[in-house]
Amino acid sequence: MNILITGGAGFVGQRLAMECLQRGNLQLDGKPSPPITKILLADNAEPPFWHDGLREHPLVTSSFGDISDEAYVKSLFAEEIHAVFHLASIVSGHGETDFDLAMRVNLDGTRYLFEATRAQQNNARVVFTSSVAAFGGDAMPDTVSDYSKQTPMTTYGMTKVIGELLVNDYSRKGFFDGRSARLPTVIVRPGKPNLAASSFVSGLFREPLNGEPCVIPVDPSQLMPVLGYRSIINGIIKLAELPAADLGTDRGVGLPAFNATVQELMDALKNVAGNRHLGEHILKKDDTIAKICAGWPQQADTARGIELGLPIEDSIEDIVANYIEDYLEGAST
Ligand SMILES: NC(=O)c1ccc[n+]([C@@H]2O[C@H](COP(=O)([O-])OP(=O)(O)OC[C@H]3O[C@@H](n4cnc5c(N)ncnc54)[C@H](O)[C@@H]3O)[C@@H](O)[C@H]2O)c1
Repeated sequence: MNILITGGAGFVGQRLAMECLQRGNLQLDGKPSPPITKILLADNAEPPFWHDGLREHPLVTSSFGDISDEAYVKSLFAEEIHAVFHLASIVSGHGETDFDLAMRVNLDGTRYLFEATRAQQNNARVVFTSSVAAFGGDAMPDTVSDYSKQTPMTTYGMTKVIGELLVNDYSRKGFFDGRSARLPTVIVRPGKPNLAASSFVSGLFREPLNGEPCVIPVDPSQLMPVLGYRSIINGIIKLAELPAADLGTDRGVGLPAFNATVQELMDALKNVAGNRHLGEHILKKDDTIAKICAGWPQQADTARGIELGLPIEDSIEDIVANYIEDYLEGAST
């Protein structure tokens, strides 16, 4: 089985590739797939770091190009691809400052990828990573679910909604067997802050654990749905594996999430840190980021994802402990 991961050099992409390698195959529709023979990581930029051994792994090929270049996208299908994880994206804050780039990469790139997948005529399994930023607007309920109307208030969120609709329609037409994983904010992202407006949510764990201060640009009472990266990866894979019949016509599923305030996240860090020296949290509101975050869903009802068997950690403290194990004490970096 050959797997393509777009955005494969990114945070989620690299961890997803490592998990696939560790598993050796997928359990498609409850049955083991043929062994994974190739993982093609497609990205347009070298990452800040490669996870140990990933790039050199004999089953891994990395390819650099722009998914908004149709010829490049077609070239990724020189060998048959059986499963596509479409992660490449211009992220939220960046999409707000560069509308045209977000349209090119997130819309044109997604269409090129879906068309190239369709052209294989092999009903490939596809997972598209959407976001809770797909919700928003004046009429958004306090708690969103898979059944809430999607009226996003960012260009990024708008492109994610269109991606979800394309996945539903390409699946309905039998062009491929797709699913959309609607991700909450993923914590704890290692490395440096990125251009996502939610970047501080990982920073508030990561920087203090490195002994550095972290600026909190929103009110500590700000609520947001979050999930640990281990559950994100396992949830994306589980969604790929589920029989289509379990999903019905709406292939977009919110991954399970904790609905936590920023204060609760800061408290969870202190609960886990023990006697580690922590850098401080500096409350300094940034109106642009605060406005974007306030426009996102505050809480997510993810009962459908849980019923489908998608995973969630036991507590936010567990997520922080996993990060310490994987990135500060382990050999992940
Ligand atoms: N991390 C989160 O909190 C979060 C939350 C909701 C949704 N998501 C979604 O999950 C997916 C993965 O997120 P991530 O945290 O790994 O982000 P990331 O920024 O680490 O990875 C995205 C990758 O896409 C690549 N990319 C951007 N433009 C490209 C282009 N034109 N051609 C090819 N590659 C391109 C980037 O270089 C990057 O490596 C994204 O689709 C993101 O929108 C993430």
